[in-house]
Amino acid sequence: MSAKAKLQALYTQSLTCQNCELGATRKNLVFGEGKADAEIFLLGEAPGAKEDETGRPFVGRAGELLTEMLTQAGINRQDVYITGSCKCRPPKNRNPYKKELTACRSILQQQLAIIKPQVVVCMGLVAIQNLLDKKARLVDVHGHWFDGPGYKLYPTYHPAAVLRGTVRADVMIEDFRRVVEMVNTLKRVER
Ligand code: URA
Repeated sequence: MSAKAKLQALYTQSLTCQNCELGATRKNLVFGEGKADAEIFLLGEAPGAKEDETGRPFVGRAGELLTEMLTQAGINRQDVYITGSCKCRPPKNRNPYKKELTACRSILQQQLAIIKPQVVVCMGLVAIQNLLDKKARLVDVHGHWFDGPGYKLYPTYHPAAVLRGTVRADVMIEDFRRVVEMVNTLKRVER
C-alpha cells in the first residue's frame, strides 16, 4: 500500500474517534494535510474555530501567516505535511489537556510512521512538550536540533505568537530557512 493510501485509511479510521471528550464537541476532526511523503512535517497545537469548521489545519489567521512565512523561506505549503498535536478543537480554544494529547498520540505516531519525514518542526510549546520533552521550555530548546526516532526535530514558535506580537515573523522565517538547509544537508549525506 502506498503512503498516500495508508494515510487515507488512517484518516477514515480516525473520523469516528471518541478516545477523548473532544469527540463529542468537535464539528470536524482535523486530521492534517499535505504530501504523504513529505520531508518536512509541521506539528502545531490544536484546531481553532475555522479549522473545526473546515476540517483543515491552519486555515485561520495563524494559518495564513504560516503559509506566508513558509513562502518567504522558500517552502511551498503543498510540499510539506501539516497537522496538530490534538486533532479536535478544545472548547473556547483552551490548551488541550494532557489526557487529550495522550488520546491523540496514536494517530500522530502513525502519521509519522507512514510519512517518515526527515524533519519534524514543533511549532509552539504544546507541540514541543508533546513530542520532545514534557518539561521543555521554549527559551532552552528554540534554535537547537534534536534527534527524534528517524527524524530531526526542530522546536520553533507557534505562528499565533507572531500574531500576538511576542515573536517577530523574521525569527520564524529564519527558522524555516534552517529547516530547508537541514533537509538539503540530509539529502547530501544520503547520496
Ligand atoms: N494545530 C494548530 O496549532 N493549528 C491548527 O490549525 C491545527 C492544528
